[in-house]
Amino acid sequence: MASVLDVARIKKDFPILSRTVRGGHPLVYLDSAATSQKPECVLDAERTFYETSNAAVHRGAHQLAEEATQAYEDARAAIAGFVGGAPEDLVFTKNATEGINLVSYAFSNATAESAWGGAPDPRFILAPGDTILVTEMEHHANLIPWQQVCARTGASLRWIPLTEDGRLDLTNLASLIDSTTKIVSVVHQSNILGTINPVRQIMDAAHSVGALGLVDACQSVPHMPVNVDDLGADFITWSGHKMLGPTGIGLLWGRTEALNGMSPFLSGGSMIESVYMDHSTFAAAPSRFEAGVPMVAQSVGLARAVAYLDDLGMDAVHAHETELTAYALSALEQVPGVQIIGPANNVDRGSAISFTVDGIHPHDVGQILDSEGVAVRVGHHCAWPTCRHFGVPATTRISTYIYNDSSDIDIAIEAISTAQRYFGTRV
Ligand code: ALA
Repeated sequence: MASVLDVARIKKDFPILSRTVRGGHPLVYLDSAATSQKPECVLDAERTFYETSNAAVHRGAHQLAEEATQAYEDARAAIAGFVGGAPEDLVFTKNATEGINLVSYAFSNATAESAWGGAPDPRFILAPGDTILVTEMEHHANLIPWQQVCARTGASLRWIPLTEDGRLDLTNLASLIDSTTKIVSVVHQSNILGTINPVRQIMDAAHSVGALGLVDACQSVPHMPVNVDDLGADFITWSGHKMLGPTGIGLLWGRTEALNGMSPFLSGGSMIESVYMDHSTFAAAPSRFEAGVPMVAQSVGLARAVAYLDDLGMDAVHAHETELTAYALSALEQVPGVQIIGPANNVDRGSAISFTVDGIHPHDVGQILDSEGVAVRVGHHCAWPTCRHFGVPATTRISTYIYNDSSDIDIAIEAISTAQRYFGTRV
């Protein structure tokens, strides 16, 4: 299969892809929805920062501190620019999970502050009768923080249900989003089903009743062009490590006034305006949400990752993945006993493909694939309610990226056949 990307050349940029595993099998990495691999230029950028400019940012008066601060803020500008945002609207977090917790804690904190006579932004105050809306295809990071907020405030959780082909059932959206709704938090592209959701429609519905909207873009920003204005959300969160960057860095983009309406999540150094013994006042976003010495080297690495993706072009990245997903879906469909969990067609669909194999537990499928050098994820993919909806305890998931091509899919398909022969479900 010819690709819009030169995958053979791209593979050479990723040192880990030249290693062998399990007794000499070339590594076939099909687990990029969990984390992507890193090109040499990202590894070099981090190393160079540590070798030449390492210092704590926003606090020193020496040259290294100045250089490190410049590198950190340049990285913020580059990463914000990658999604069409402004640097002052981009908060560095540890990961996307922390970004969602940051917003969810703004609700918990505002509710607690108002109970004690404070005057937080009323959009973040919750009470019994208020509702929060998610979907049945959220990964745990965009579900459990909201369950926790409900438990602390008396608000109730609602969710948009799934259709049998793994899409959102929006039939009753108008009754799910009403005057009780305070925030709607929705995944852009499902990590387990691959579904790409109509988030703009859902965000517009949230705004029509005065609710806030958050989009979890962990699986979309790495794989397709994303522009923060187009999504129409108040908050968008994603992680660096799924888009060729280092672990330990995530992003929370917010509309300026939405960010500045939130109480701090973590407090300490760097997030303050003035400090007295009995009280403090806080800096504006993004500093308000970046307490302590932040992830400077990671930001430099992620900025390099963003430049690498920009060089390829996100349109080309998306076109490549769409082609490869079509190839993988069609190859899987031809394997007897394989059931796709999620959209079986390639419309509004990303590259994560979950499936079951009749008569073989997904963990056993994963183990046989691993023994052939193929790295996939098995389990509930941190989306346990989604598995429950489809009546499966777990699935096997293939997820591709810029360094995969059809030969990787062919090896995985052959390994699935090997598993079937091993377990006697296919002759
Ligand atoms: N986002 C992580 C994955 O899908 C949980 O593997």
